[in-house]
Amino acid sequence: MRTAVCYYSRHHGNTRKVLEAMAREGEIDLIDATVRQTVRLEDYDCVGFASGVYFGKFHTSVLHAARQYLPHGKPVFFVCTYGGGMGQSTRELKELAGERGCAVLGTFGCKGYDTFGPFKLVGGLAKGRPDEGDLDRARSFFRDILTRL
Ligand SMILES: Cc1cc2nc3c(=O)[nH]c(=O)nc-3n(C[C@H](O)[C@H](O)[C@H](O)COP(=O)(O)O)c2cc1C
Repeated sequence: MRTAVCYYSRHHGNTRKVLEAMAREGEIDLIDATVRQTVRLEDYDCVGFASGVYFGKFHTSVLHAARQYLPHGKPVFFVCTYGGGMGQSTRELKELAGERGCAVLGTFGCKGYDTFGPFKLVGGLAKGRPDEGDLDRARSFFRDILTRL
């Protein structure tokens, strides 16, 4: 079973923490969407896209990577962290998956420490997240994906 996840995690590394927890359940190649590199997602059995939510969306680097590299028919899953809520942040990726005939295996989301703008003045939102409970849920989400493939 080979899994790759294209990700962006810059604000506090929250999304990366979640991905590292998942990677304890099974090998995952973590691909930083901001680094120029040759990406061959066709070599993987399943592909994830992961990001903090920025202004209601996944980061543009992840959306670009998905548009550029997602092969037809590849099973996908999505992972995000957010200060407030996930909202409709996976919408574009779900549409793309539909256009490319990719089965969506699921979405994992949890809160992530957020000190953007005015929230910094009040000590930030979702302090301490992701926490152990979030990371446990992330691990079981990925275990479940592995058993379904
Ligand atoms: C510029 C910016 C915009 C953000 N926009 C949103 C948003 O629209 N909705 C939300 O719930 N959180 C928002 N957040 C909070 C982040 O989604 C949250 O902190 C996330 O865990 C960051 O992930 P990362 O540490 O992996 O980069 C924003 C944070 C920043 C810095």
